[in-house]
Amino acid sequence: MGRIDQETVNRILDAADIVDVVSDFVKLRRSGANYKGLCPFHNERTPSFSVNRARNICKCFSCGKGGSPVNFIMEHEQLSYQEALRYLARKYNIEIVEKEQSPEEQQAQNDRESMLAVNEFALNEFRRNLLETDAGRDLALAYFRHRGLNDAMIERFRLGYSLDKGSAFVDAARLAGYNDKYLIETGLAGVSEREGQKRLYDRFRGRVMFPVLSLSGRVIAFGGRTMRSDKTVAKYVNSPESVIYKKSNELYGLYQAKSAIARRDKCIMVEGYLDVISMHQAGVENVVASSGTSLTEGQIRLLRRFTNNVTLIYDADPAGIKASLRGINMLLDEKLDVKVLLLPPGDDPDSFAQNHSSSEVEEYLAQHEEDIIAFMTRVLMRDVPSNDPTARAKVINVILGSVAHIDDPVKRQEYLQQCSRMLGLSEEVLVRQLNILIAKRYEEAETNEARRAARESLGELDNENAAGQDKHEAEQEEAPLLNLNVNRLKPFEEILARYLVRFGLLYIVNMTDENGNDMPATVYDVISSELAADGITFTHKPYQAVFEAIGAIRNDGAWLADRIVRQGEIEDEVRMKLEEAREKLRMEGGSMAKIEKVEAETRMELAVFREERINEFDMQYGQNLLVNSPDDMVRNTALELLVDRYTISRFYTRQGDNLSEQAQLPSLVPTAIYELRNAIVSDIIKDLTMQLSGLPADRAEEAFAIMKEIQERKELQRRLTKALGDRIILPGAISQR
Ligand code: CTP
Ligand code: MN
Repeated sequence: MGRIDQETVNRILDAADIVDVVSDFVKLRRSGANYKGLCPFHNERTPSFSVNRARNICKCFSCGKGGSPVNFIMEHEQLSYQEALRYLARKYNIEIVEKEQSPEEQQAQNDRESMLAVNEFALNEFRRNLLETDAGRDLALAYFRHRGLNDAMIERFRLGYSLDKGSAFVDAARLAGYNDKYLIETGLAGVSEREGQKRLYDRFRGRVMFPVLSLSGRVIAFGGRTMRSDKTVAKYVNSPESVIYKKSNELYGLYQAKSAIARRDKCIMVEGYLDVISMHQAGVENVVASSGTSLTEGQIRLLRRFTNNVTLIYDADPAGIKASLRGINMLLDEKLDVKVLLLPPGDDPDSFAQNHSSSEVEEYLAQHEEDIIAFMTRVLMRDVPSNDPTARAKVINVILGSVAHIDDPVKRQEYLQQCSRMLGLSEEVLVRQLNILIAKRYEEAETNEARRAARESLGELDNENAAGQDKHEAEQEEAPLLNLNVNRLKPFEEILARYLVRFGLLYIVNMTDENGNDMPATVYDVISSELAADGITFTHKPYQAVFEAIGAIRNDGAWLADRIVRQGEIEDEVRMKLEEAREKLRMEGGSMAKIEKVEAETRMELAVFREERINEFDMQYGQNLLVNSPDDMVRNTALELLVDRYTISRFYTRQGDNLSEQAQLPSLVPTAIYELRNAIVSDIIKDLTMQLSGLPADRAEEAFAIMKEIQERKELQRRLTKALGDRIILPGAISQR
């Protein structure tokens, strides 16, 4: 639909009378010069909603909502400005002249409109069938009654019935002048071929019909439920996807629920058509259904126009619960506040709403709503035997994995406290683990970007370097991204490979993300992100193999799961040590001041102890898996690099013992990357210089080009030196560019 021209807009605005418009929704009473009523935007007992006819505005003096007729309709019907204008135009019979459209737009518009028109026709047919035919009354209406639905709901959800005849609907539609094309495209008709002749038949036959309405109330699809309980027929037949119906972007019942959702700032999600309708009948109107599939991003975005708060209702059976947890992280990613509610065993929303009074339903909802993370923790931990730490750790990982999808640091903190209580693990342990998971998430998003950037920057280098690149070295095992001298680069790569083997999983720096959260990064993380950003891989194949192997370990959940087990053990040790220290203090006695001092010292020591233990675990973990790798190349290379620790000393002669090397990793690792990068650029420069010297005197043009390129490379080297130098000074900013 195009925009409405200004002249028509003015006519609509002039015609719309505020008392008239509001009266369609609110019972108004005269009060002096104004009118008063109960505010439709919030729940109240005494009227504070005031309408002023002279100024043509309304306003609630309690919640502040209101405005012009257009504002009121936008807010009340949850429509856009243009939609609200169209609503008013319909109300006041004002014709809207559409703006000029291209023939294609016109055609597409016509197609959509035609399909919507056929659907509207079908809706009316189905309703007529329900109320005015014998079969409709005896079967379908009786069925709705049997399901406990009253007339108001049948009307509100525009329920209907499709006759159980081969092509009764198609015939009626043709008779009314509707085109076969649109009967087929909406899926109201199916096509069969018999003896070379196409025939249309009714898709919906002998079913109770649930129309699916768009946000603005147009019929975009149907669901037809069989009234038979045998399993030989499909329970539901649904309209196919079409240009007017994208299933993943629609929510059943949203049209009827949107005002209540906005008013209560909450949406309740159920599974089926009947769940929605029964809840409405019970007075709970902020309910929609995903129609049996898990929620999609499109549906969430639609919902977010009305609220950020979603309550998911689940049946109490374990299968249902497990399945439902799958989509949770996506909801959290969309910054929704997610709550969960379990119904009593054996109930679904439909049966529950049918068997309880409105106030009972409301009360149950209010009392049993549970925060999603608390719910996950409770439900998942329930199934874990207490003597199985590995299973326990896996579950903790799953829960923290969801917490990692929550962006709000305050909320995250609350969740951690909650989990810590429920899991009996110290908050500190959970925070670390959480940071790791957040880093991992962040990384996954970053990696793709970095890869792309690296590929691009390399593409540039390759092109610039395309001249004279034939000097392949004997040892060159595979074509590297650049034409590099493997023998010369190997020692530089060796340093990095050695760090990877010895310290690959050790956390050495924090990267800060855009929310200001610290993301711990391992040696592997730093090296891999730097190499990716520079577009480099190891030219020496065994080192590349080791690099990939440690990367696989780092990105496998098993490490994180085992790490939690180990952290739990360390916490136990810490508690014991603290107890011992306290016991000793009690025995020895002494002044308060002394006791406090010793306590503080002990805590410091324990913090160091904790750090050392987990570092030890991380280091050992990587080393162990590498030297026991089933891959010969990985195993042998890792062994070699672990044992031969002195080859390195010629680069870092002043380096002390092993521990200090570990302590210096935050600067050693970036330095080593710099050395490698620098070596690569020098290689290129050397190569170019050789080319230049081999050039005969009469090819000045080429010589000049090469000289220019050398110049550029030197400039690049200078910039690299500076950039990488900066990074070395600022280990906290390693991967920020
Ligand atoms: N659904 C569907 N096709 C099916 C089964 C289910 O499209 N064959 C969708 C429908 O939107 C349905 C929802 O999934 O409303 C939930 O399915 P289910 O619980 O089986 O159906 P209900 O509508 O709850 O029906 P009833 O209560 O009558 O069993
Ligand atoms: Mn049901």
